[in-house]
Amino acid sequence: MPEYLTKLFNLRGKVAVVIGGAGHLCSVMSEALARAGVKIALVDKNDANRKTAARRIKRITSSIIDLPMDVTNKQDHAAVLKAVLKIFKKVDILINGAGTNAPTPVMDISLEEWHAIFDSHATATLFGCQVFGAQMIKQRQGSIINLSSVSSGPPLSKAFTYSVAKAGVKNLTQNLAREWAPYGVRVNALRPGFFPTQWSMKHFIDDKRKAAILGHTPMARFGQPQELVGAVLWLASDASGFVTGSEVHVDGGFTCMSI
Ligand SMILES: NC(=O)c1ccc[n+]([C@@H]2O[C@H](COP(=O)([O-])OP(=O)(O)OC[C@H]3O[C@@H](n4cnc5c(N)ncnc54)[C@H](O)[C@@H]3O)[C@@H](O)[C@H]2O)c1
Repeated sequence: MPEYLTKLFNLRGKVAVVIGGAGHLCSVMSEALARAGVKIALVDKNDANRKTAARRIKRITSSIIDLPMDVTNKQDHAAVLKAVLKIFKKVDILINGAGTNAPTPVMDISLEEWHAIFDSHATATLFGCQVFGAQMIKQRQGSIINLSSVSSGPPLSKAFTYSVAKAGVKNLTQNLAREWAPYGVRVNALRPGFFPTQWSMKHFIDDKRKAAILGHTPMARFGQPQELVGAVLWLASDASGFVTGSEVHVDGGFTCMSI
């Protein structure tokens, strides 16, 4: 790569904690960070998928650890921070990318389901920012990337609790960006459009809905996880040094579409 780009986006030797790192999107982000020379702490509650994702990254770098966490438990965040500091000594990048969803009609949503979905995104992002953000404030530097969504506003049909949670993630991102800018900690959100998973194709996107989504997406296609990598490397690196509080759209134009 030309030296100019290498310097601009240089991430070599940085440490990233990727929460939800076993998932469809964050496993690809983790691999990309590893290829850029970043030391990876891959964190997820799904042991089997986490081990599989970690094995793939071990082919790229030996600087990878994988750790279990339930994101809705703040003590788990603290335990992961402790383990990461023991091995890697610092945290430069945090990706908050775990979470669940359900297509339950609004009148049928139970309090239990509401909490399960809301907490896996909004409360989890709060905990991640509190615990790893405190370390970044001590270091006087860090970049936090929270996973928002096109459902953060306007909200998405069939995703009631999820949309509320993602609006919360966006709001929290802006609030913390203001709060932590004086300490050199940047907080941004990534706003993916539709990057279907096996689960979403089964429970969320039938043929009619697929046509509606693609009809509302100027690029008329779904996204590929790899297409989030450029934005992640940019947000993680000093190339985005004056960017904080942003919600970066990677959505094939979905958000700008009206008629
Ligand atoms: N795929 C998309 O189209 C899309 C679009 C917009 C936003 N997003 C967001 O991007 C992020 C990643 O989505 P994805 O598509 O890769 O989903 P995914 O289901 O493949 O990955 C989510 C990961 O979170 C983990 N997880 C769930 N609950 C957890 C908990 N309580 N504790 C710890 N880990 C937990 C799961 O084990 C899974 O590995 C999510 O925040 C999602 O809302 C996804």
